[in-house]
Amino acid sequence: KHWQMTSLCLLGVWIPDAEHVWKSAEILRDFHSGDNVLDLLLEDGTVSEYRFPVDPSKPQLPPLRNPDILVGENDLTALSYLHEPAVLHNLKVRFVESRIIYTYCGIILVAVNPNKQLPVYGDAIIHAYSGQNMGDMDPHIFAVAEEAYKQMARNHKNQSIIVSGESGAGKTVSARYAMRYFAVVSKSGSQTRVEDKVLASNPITEAIGNAKTTRNDNSSRFGKYTEISFDRRYRIIGANMRTYLLEKSRVVFQADNERNYHIFYQMCSSANLPEFRNLRLSNADKFRYTCMGGDTTIEGVDDKKDMEETRRTFSLLGKGSFQLDVFRVLAAILHLGNVEIRSSGDDRSSVPPGDPHLAVFCELLGVSAEGLVRWLCHRRIVLVAEMVVKPVPRERAVNARDALAKQIYAHLFDCIINRINAALQVPGKQHAFIGVLDIYGFETFDINSFEQFCINYANEKLQQQFNLHVFKLEQEEYMKEDIPWTLIDFYDNQPVIDLIESKMGILDLLDEECLFPQGSDQSWLQKLYNYLDTNPLFEKPRLSNEAFVIQHFADKVEYQCRGFLEKNRDALYEELVDLMRGSEFPFLANFFQEEERNTATSKTVKVRPARPSVKPANKQLRTSVGDKVKMFTPSLCIVKILNSYTPIDDFEKRVTSSFVRKVQGLLQDHEGSTQLMLDTDYHFQVMFPFCSSSQALELLQVPNSLHLDFLNRI
Ligand SMILES: Nc1ncnc2c1ncn2[C@@H]1O[C@H](COP(=O)(O)OP(=O)(O)OP(=O)(O)O)[C@@H](O)[C@H]1O
Ligand SMILES: *[C@@H]1O[C@H](CO)[C@@H](O)[C@H](O)[C@H]1NC(C)=O
Ligand SMILES: *[C@@H]1O[C@H](CO)[C@@H](O)[C@H](O)[C@H]1NC(C)=O
Ligand SMILES: [Mg+2]
Repeated sequence: KHWQMTSLCLLGVWIPDAEHVWKSAEILRDFHSGDNVLDLLLEDGTVSEYRFPVDPSKPQLPPLRNPDILVGENDLTALSYLHEPAVLHNLKVRFVESRIIYTYCGIILVAVNPNKQLPVYGDAIIHAYSGQNMGDMDPHIFAVAEEAYKQMARNHKNQSIIVSGESGAGKTVSARYAMRYFAVVSKSGSQTRVEDKVLASNPITEAIGNAKTTRNDNSSRFGKYTEISFDRRYRIIGANMRTYLLEKSRVVFQADNERNYHIFYQMCSSANLPEFRNLRLSNADKFRYTCMGGDTTIEGVDDKKDMEETRRTFSLLGKGSFQLDVFRVLAAILHLGNVEIRSSGDDRSSVPPGDPHLAVFCELLGVSAEGLVRWLCHRRIVLVAEMVVKPVPRERAVNARDALAKQIYAHLFDCIINRINAALQVPGKQHAFIGVLDIYGFETFDINSFEQFCINYANEKLQQQFNLHVFKLEQEEYMKEDIPWTLIDFYDNQPVIDLIESKMGILDLLDEECLFPQGSDQSWLQKLYNYLDTNPLFEKPRLSNEAFVIQHFADKVEYQCRGFLEKNRDALYEELVDLMRGSEFPFLANFFQEEERNTATSKTVKVRPARPSVKPANKQLRTSVGDKVKMFTPSLCIVKILNSYTPIDDFEKRVTSSFVRKVQGLLQDHEGSTQLMLDTDYHFQVMFPFCSSSQALELLQVPNSLHLDFLNRI
């Protein structure tokens, strides 16, 4: 940006390339204003041209290459030019030439997924990082963990580590290593060995919350925030886990080449175990809910063996029937999926008498088969003064069945998490904590639906909090004081967030549509087209009337509108809930008792009278899933996490606005230079846009009294 376009000579640049993404080239001849091409020499010796995109009066020059001497730096902020090709190239050089997967970017650790086991995680390495300064050691997840631990133990600050990235990037693996670090460096020494339990809970949460997707065989389909508690002597005394946005739809639907949650396959592969006999399980390809994606196995995964691990960790959580109760509910869900629902004309549906899966489901969960069939295939309608029971068509009965399966699974999931939390609580007061947030990353698939929308929205919020914390607040401070100042450019994603959550934005219109009895995905989509047409971040796809496109901070994503209303309502009809509540199996019945107290986790829809519906005035009382995402990010979790996150002190202390003013004053009298570098342990680039030549800077004397010796010229 601040580079003079008239004096290019043999400068290295990056040119977009269809195959390699970016290709390196050298500029052969000076650029003169008015030119619309650059003459380039490619690395293979061929000469080529680069045409400036779009507006020739304001040529968008290609990104500049860094001096070779800087490439391979272990901190990206040490690069003179920090843009996509520079970042990718630097990471690539480190990884390809030296098998190094970790690189800093200031206070952030960037990890490349090596997709194979590297010998860099042993206890010896943990001990090598223990007690060291982040800047003195090679970048490593252990260095980040140590930094958090040190900030907590020395500076008495609660800490959080946020792990983010796209699906398959290695978030869960990294979060695990961070937790292992804490377990090793802060042994409790007590008999309870709580740190082992914290780690041991992973196989369970992964079995019930991870699944194979087309991007990751072990994809976490929920967000997880683990808070590790320490006592006064900074030893682990317990942990607490919170989960977010479990992808419930996966229980009843999987796309091609994907699977349901691992646990179902683990159970099916162990169908022959004596203790599973009464569950009447069989191969996973025999159940509708587990065979939809095609192949039920994953290469290199032995579901049967993983089951042993899952059961072993379940038993660490405590004795009793808990484990078998869980399996009973899971088996029931599989049988429910196989209950056959037929269309029986006239918008009616029925379950054939003697359906074997219906019988098993009802036996396992202790509910009446008659009642279940009745409330799958009928609906109670309140007319003005009386109540009538009306049959429903097959499609709605299938929806009701699937909604029931999803709800049972969601309750079971929460129940297991609660159980783990109870097992991880140890008496003693929490003195400080370190949180680790493993939130699933930005997602884009061939077909994106409400789930991806929620995930991507949550990621926008996360990104925003991050921007806010790292860049925006400081920059605004400078702007307030009228200091001409460019910090690192950041991408402000507020406009996308507005598009989603403002009044008459996507979620608002969705919630509104859910209130109309006649509301449909299509009519909602039409409203989006009408109201949001002019928003540059919103598009109607050229070839579809069933989808909309959002330009997210990470990428453009096309969402199919189908199912948004139903998923946002997240409804389960009351009659089915009543039936479950009356179950003779207390473990299950309890799930649905909870519901009354805890409306935040799920809710029921009361069927409204069949007279013209009036829009309820008390809209606040309803919470849709979309609302939950809204609440989830800013207020419940992320804000707390970021508040307890401590940026590198050095940087914060030194780069204050008064500091900037001082340096600015010094530079003003000089026909100044282009850049100064803040050489703390972490290099932050500081630009002074009003300076133009680098000569003057060499003459610039910085008095020692200012203590600016950490400023380096570049
Ligand atoms: N540091 C690492 N060393 C070796 N292999 C790794 C490492 N990080 C990730 N992997 C491999 O990549 C796979 C995917 O990683 P992981 O499950 O952590 O991704 P994720 O970011 O949590 O994805 P999702 O958002 O889908 O949950 C792992 O199963 C593992 O095989
Ligand atoms: C995948 O998840 C399972 C839990 O089902 C876990 O035991 C296993 O270690 C994970 N696999 C990898 C490669 O991380
Ligand atoms: C850290 O968290 C603990 C427990 O939540 C709290 O009691 C303590 O005040 C927090 N410390 C700081 C410095 O905020
Ligand atoms: Mg994961």
